[in-house]
Amino acid sequence: MDKFVIKGPSKIKGDIRISGSKNAALPILAATLLFSKPVELKNVPNVRDIQTMLNLLRFFKKKIKISKNKNTIKIYNSKKIRTYLPYSISKTMRGSIICLGGLVSKYGKAISAYPGGCAIGTRPINYHLDALKKLGMKYEIKKGYIYATAKNGLKGNNIKFKKISVGATENSIIAASLAKGKTILKNCAIEPEIKDLTKFLSSAGANIKWIGKRTVQIIGVQKLRSINYTVMGDRIETGTMAIAAAITGGTLKIKGLDPKIINTELELLKKTGSIIKYGKNEIKIFGAKKIKNIKLIKTKEYPGFPTDLQAQFMTLLCKAEGRSVIAENIFENRFMHVLELQRLGAKILLKNNKAIIEGNSKFEGAELMSSDLRASVALVLAAMVAKGTSIIHRVYHLDRGYEKIEDKLRKVGARIKRVS
Ligand code: EPZ
Repeated sequence: MDKFVIKGPSKIKGDIRISGSKNAALPILAATLLFSKPVELKNVPNVRDIQTMLNLLRFFKKKIKISKNKNTIKIYNSKKIRTYLPYSISKTMRGSIICLGGLVSKYGKAISAYPGGCAIGTRPINYHLDALKKLGMKYEIKKGYIYATAKNGLKGNNIKFKKISVGATENSIIAASLAKGKTILKNCAIEPEIKDLTKFLSSAGANIKWIGKRTVQIIGVQKLRSINYTVMGDRIETGTMAIAAAITGGTLKIKGLDPKIINTELELLKKTGSIIKYGKNEIKIFGAKKIKNIKLIKTKEYPGFPTDLQAQFMTLLCKAEGRSVIAENIFENRFMHVLELQRLGAKILLKNNKAIIEGNSKFEGAELMSSDLRASVALVLAAMVAKGTSIIHRVYHLDRGYEKIEDKLRKVGARIKRVS
């Protein structure tokens, strides 16, 4: 298993172009199940979760063509589509459940492994199944598999999600795109990646209209036309790189995303003392000499502060002058990085879903263990400002969602190398 060896402290300076968004590309790839015609996607990040999704599409008998740089993907239909989603693949990425809506909507049936939980929580799929059922999907669960059918296809309906869920919103939008009649989805998640999904489907002829802040109307169509589409930039990678500049007191120009999309995060970074200039599809950030603490940050659904940046922001606040508190409101177990940060010298106390961060930590290099995607990248940020050498094990967690992160960081002055 690969590990990272990182020497600190270092200050980063230069330009970084971020990759395409993993969390936009995944639902868009799942939505290609609705197409009989070819689809070409550009700016797809070359990360493990995307490879997993491509393996899944190949398993369904889709034909996949990948460009040399692996960032352009062509998906072709085939005569004999398999509508079986095996546990062997779904256990490596629970997000594969968003293929269920497309399979049932297009082919009227699917057998899908019931997804496992993962490090950050149990991650149930009740809202997915409730919504698909309201669209006419019948299912029973046997031996860890969901046997789903929709004999006469799916039928539009009015659905209000009990709780805001990114995946359940995506699954329902995909399923409703070919359902007969009108669907109104209320209390939807509105992450930018979901807007990218609806933009992708609309540009292929789906009839989708956002008619309220969290309400979307979908009128089913017969079929979708062939399209070329460019996936949006990764907002979590952008936020992560901005925090890298903030924590090292460095200067970074980050290209590839409209800064307005991450206004909440950037405003919070300004509160810690960073200076941030918004450009067209780029951000310039000047890290502060002294990092200010923030009394309380709560993770919320978009447009609130994202849970996917919680670990990275906590690392920054360890270096702030004074106490900060972060409340994690989305996942029940998303503080795995705390133990590892404490090994570097962080003073953090956990109380239920709150982390109390004392600040003024002097990080000393140490051996660290990755646990989940975002916790791992928080350790990279911490190691970059720790005195001495750190080793971060099991970086395959990182490879799930960050494309060549060590190359990007080394190019702007970080002393990081991958050791296989
Ligand atoms: C998506 O996960 C993202 N993954 C996550 O990013 C992100 O953290 C999360 O949204 C929240 O923003 C992808 O887009 C591939 P949810 P998802 O359904 O869809 C509970 C990363 O690091 N829930 O909005 O699984 C659930 O347990 C990943 O890139 C139910 O109870 O998130 C969680 O507590 C990590 N029943 C909360 O809702 C359901 O049916 C939010 O989950 C569905 C969800």
